[in-house]
Amino acid sequence: MASLAAERAFMPDSPIQTGPGADGGMPPPDHAVEVRGLDKIYRGGRRNKANHALIDVDLAIPRGALFGLLGPNGAGKSTLINILAGLVNKTGGRAAIWGSDIDENPRQARAAIGVVPQELNIDPFFTPRELLELQAGLYGVPPRERRTDRILADLRLSDKAEAYARTLSGGMRRRLMVAKAMVHDPPVLVLDEPTAGVDIELRQQLWTHVRALNRRGTTVLLTTHYLEEAEELCDRIAIINHGRVIACDTTEALLRRLDNKALTLVLAEAVGEVPERLGRFQPELLAPGRLLFHYRTSESPVNEILGAVAASGLTVQDMSTEETDLEDIFLQLTRGAHEAEAPKG
Ligand SMILES: Nc1ncnc2c1ncn2[C@@H]1O[C@H](COP(=O)(O)OP(=O)(O)O)[C@@H](O)[C@H]1O
Ligand SMILES: [Mg+2]
Repeated sequence: MASLAAERAFMPDSPIQTGPGADGGMPPPDHAVEVRGLDKIYRGGRRNKANHALIDVDLAIPRGALFGLLGPNGAGKSTLINILAGLVNKTGGRAAIWGSDIDENPRQARAAIGVVPQELNIDPFFTPRELLELQAGLYGVPPRERRTDRILADLRLSDKAEAYARTLSGGMRRRLMVAKAMVHDPPVLVLDEPTAGVDIELRQQLWTHVRALNRRGTTVLLTTHYLEEAEELCDRIAIINHGRVIACDTTEALLRRLDNKALTLVLAEAVGEVPERLGRFQPELLAPGRLLFHYRTSESPVNEILGAVAASGLTVQDMSTEETDLEDIFLQLTRGAHEAEAPKG
């Protein structure tokens, strides 16, 4: 939990204009965030051994993107976010936010980013208005430049502006966290697993808000372990697993690579080898009479496979299909394209 004192420690001590279009003549950077060869090793202690949490990570997030960092628990997502936020020290590599290197220009870099951490940490005895004013003060935003009412309205918290934070619902608290991250008008907003453990309705609400902020020009980086969330919301996705980025592409291109399903057929006949007519589908013989097909939903529909089975004079006794889940995707991507494309023997 970051206390106010801890937050103050990494705040810029005077205001820096960083909002979209508020760069005093400086052209905006092509990349809102740029990370090169980033490495993080958590030193082992008496209880835990050393942990290589990020390994040679390269990432370029275009200005204006709604970018998803997708990976399972423990992949290194929060570590990456926290390095950008100045909360965790990197072991090696470089990172720049809105053109400012986090080592060379730490103040500018921190002023350019607003972070919504994974854990909800809201002081229960302040009202949303007070919390936003306090946060603006920490960032050195002068009173006449504060946009507290506007931010409260954007996140539909206006009617709760004077309520104690402890009386807010879970959804309102999440939105208040986003509001807090926006007080200094950062061009880059980072959300660490904004919808983990959140119900469907609230998830939809948050997505709507994030989309709206992005449409207004804020570059958004969010982490998630839900493939569906990255798919729905993000225009670009980087997949991270065991500290390595194993894919980074537009959502469309990535999904094309991933539109993969598995079909298992149990045949009435205990055939001991793959029938010739089925060869082109490259099934695996799991056991006599038991065939596993991998296919692309967009390319070879199930009925083509079933037709070929029937044409071979075989009878299907039972069948099951499985969506590719995140774990399979990681395996596929890690295995490498050349191997995945090589015909099975
Ligand atoms: N403060 C820490 N000290 C030691 N190891 C840590 C610390 N924080 C995270 N880790 C480890 O680093 C790896 C990445 O963690 P994290 O960045 O939190 O992943 P994610 O956010 O993707 O779930 C995990 O193996 C985790 O146990
Ligand atoms: Mg995390």
